[in-house]
Amino acid sequence: MQAKDPDRRPAAVEINPLNLDEIQGALGTKRLGTRFHYFQEIDSTNSHARRLAETGAPEGEVVIAEHQTGGRGRLGRSWVSPPYSNLYCSLILRPALAPAHAPQITLTAAVALADTVAAFVAEPPAIKWPNDILLQGKKLAGILTESSCDAKRIDFVILGIGVNLNFPRERMPEAIRDRATSLMEVGGQGVSRENFLRRLIQDLDRCYGVLEDFGFDVIAPRWQARFGFKGKTVRVEMEGDVLIGQAVGIDHDGALLVENDRGERRRVVAGDVTAIED
Ligand code: BTN
Repeated sequence: MQAKDPDRRPAAVEINPLNLDEIQGALGTKRLGTRFHYFQEIDSTNSHARRLAETGAPEGEVVIAEHQTGGRGRLGRSWVSPPYSNLYCSLILRPALAPAHAPQITLTAAVALADTVAAFVAEPPAIKWPNDILLQGKKLAGILTESSCDAKRIDFVILGIGVNLNFPRERMPEAIRDRATSLMEVGGQGVSRENFLRRLIQDLDRCYGVLEDFGFDVIAPRWQARFGFKGKTVRVEMEGDVLIGQAVGIDHDGALLVENDRGERRRVVAGDVTAIED
């Protein structure tokens, strides 16, 4: 544990709320961003979006919060969500896809998010399967999709996105300090959260439109082009199993393909991937 030093206390957090009027008027999207539900503080934007979707909220509505008290990540992890510095939002989607195709939404969102990040920083973003966005090998953003389906159709998908924008390293909890980064850190200056959010909703709208109109075959090469671990030796932790091999890319449905040294390929549909070689 770090010793407390009174002279190294971080400066007070600047309270600079998001100006949503600035965003809504200039969105120009077809399906997403139809309505914003804004909170100073909430448990988790995903949890609230689910509550809205369960009571009939239509596709395109966005839940956004300045601060999450219970931000959630993949694999049961938590998502560090300090106030007034980053982006925490969840979109309600009602895609006309079979439940088996729900993972395509996550990968499509990763392509859109990487495009948005690329518009704000010279350093190229990389996607870590299935949907982390890395800059300089460190985690900048994550996506948590949660869906409600029956046997034949998807009722709704909650697409939750967290992006570290103006998150100084000294404010990051020690547990993530070595693995996480922010746009401010990589770009050397603060980022307008309004501009980032507007561009993100526009990129999501465009990519989601491509998925619905033309299918995942058009999205997959865009995802592969940003795949950061292609050709690298990876370790995949799955429930009750560990797999080591070379990351090849994704299968037609978004599953990760990992090849062992005998040339045998395995499909990974859920798991945690780390590169064990550069
Ligand atoms: C991950 O990489 O593990 C996914 C992180 C997703 C975090 C976002 S922040 C907005 C939304 N609300 C949540 O509780 N989680 C997602």
